[in-house]
Amino acid sequence: MIYLDNAATSFPKPDKVYEEVLRCMKEYCANPGRGGHYMSIESGKAVMEAREAICSFFNIRNPMQLSFTKNATEALNVAIKGLLKAGDHVITTTMEHNSVVRPLKTLEKELGIELTFIQGNEYGEVDIADIQRAVKENTRLIAATASSNVNGIIMPFRKIGEIAKAKGIVFLLDAAQGAGAITIDVEEDHIDMMAFPGHKSLLGPQGTGALYVRENVILKELMQGGTGSNSENVFQPEIMPDMLESGTLNTPGIVGMGAGVGFINSFGLENIKLYKAMLVKKLHDGITEIGGMKLYSKNDINHNSGIVAMNVDGIDSTEISYVLDKVYGIATRAGLHCAPMAHAALGTMKTGVVRFSIGCFNTVQEIDLVLNALKEIVLKTQNN
Ligand SMILES: Cc1ncc(COP(=O)(O)O)c(C=O)c1O
Repeated sequence: MIYLDNAATSFPKPDKVYEEVLRCMKEYCANPGRGGHYMSIESGKAVMEAREAICSFFNIRNPMQLSFTKNATEALNVAIKGLLKAGDHVITTTMEHNSVVRPLKTLEKELGIELTFIQGNEYGEVDIADIQRAVKENTRLIAATASSNVNGIIMPFRKIGEIAKAKGIVFLLDAAQGAGAITIDVEEDHIDMMAFPGHKSLLGPQGTGALYVRENVILKELMQGGTGSNSENVFQPEIMPDMLESGTLNTPGIVGMGAGVGFINSFGLENIKLYKAMLVKKLHDGITEIGGMKLYSKNDINHNSGIVAMNVDGIDSTEISYVLDKVYGIATRAGLHCAPMAHAALGTMKTGVVRFSIGCFNTVQEIDLVLNALKEIVLKTQNN
């Protein structure tokens, strides 16, 4: 199979990820932070090493400000629901995933928070002036995606962070499509909270994710339970990361996530970005050359985190995705990608789009095969 669904979850993972997950499970996977014996201490050390490697990757200075979650969705819920109170105003964008939209809309219904959705240009890229204009006295949070999971458009998140910082507003970055795909530095980008999965471009296993919370941002935890610390206290500890990490951690997954980051570092994120950008451009330009298709993404590295979004003229995206899978063995994702507002913004609510999401293990030969398949499909539809 030619796997081009890396925006959903990356496949394959680096060998080192498989090896470290297996080694953890076979050699030392006791409960981290829950025992004084050798294996528990080894597990605790492995979790800490992964925490430090991941933090260093995003320039998070204090690794204790990173809490592990099971995916980006959980991290976004903890951030949004842990921060907002009745009467708060939130600025967000129409390119958000349901993992941002649904918690916000739920709080709008349940708490009466106020929401402003900023509409972007034809690709969904927001204008910073519109964000600036939307700021109100009670704006507590700006929540934005680093890049869209529908068409890969990269948001001007550093500029958004600058506005948030200048106005004393908390800035939450949904880095589900950004982490491991584009350069993110929580200091330079003025990020107060960042939610990200381990299983996409960070190349870790499913069931992994994390939330970074800046020291001065006070959250209320969504869940209480055992943390392996302060056991005499019947209330949840208020220190990070324990406050947000109740229950046994996914130690093998976290170890795998750390190994994924190690793999990216060994090649260099810049090199991976350039390689993927070359494949994106090849696919994008090839589609333009064949004709009979519409593109919804840009073809350059500064505006695309690794996605080619397209439709064959007059055909529903699910039909094309089905044929690509069944006839050509090419894995894509069609439909609305859990981001209906983004599709409304791009004008693709009725058809959805076919999403090719490229990973660092895809090859030039695979893109050639995809282009040949698309050429045949377009020819067939034109002859029908
Ligand atoms: C932009 C964006 N946000 C959030 C998520 C949710 O990520 P997860 O599946 O890790 O919860 C996704 C998943 O595709 C996404 O693309």
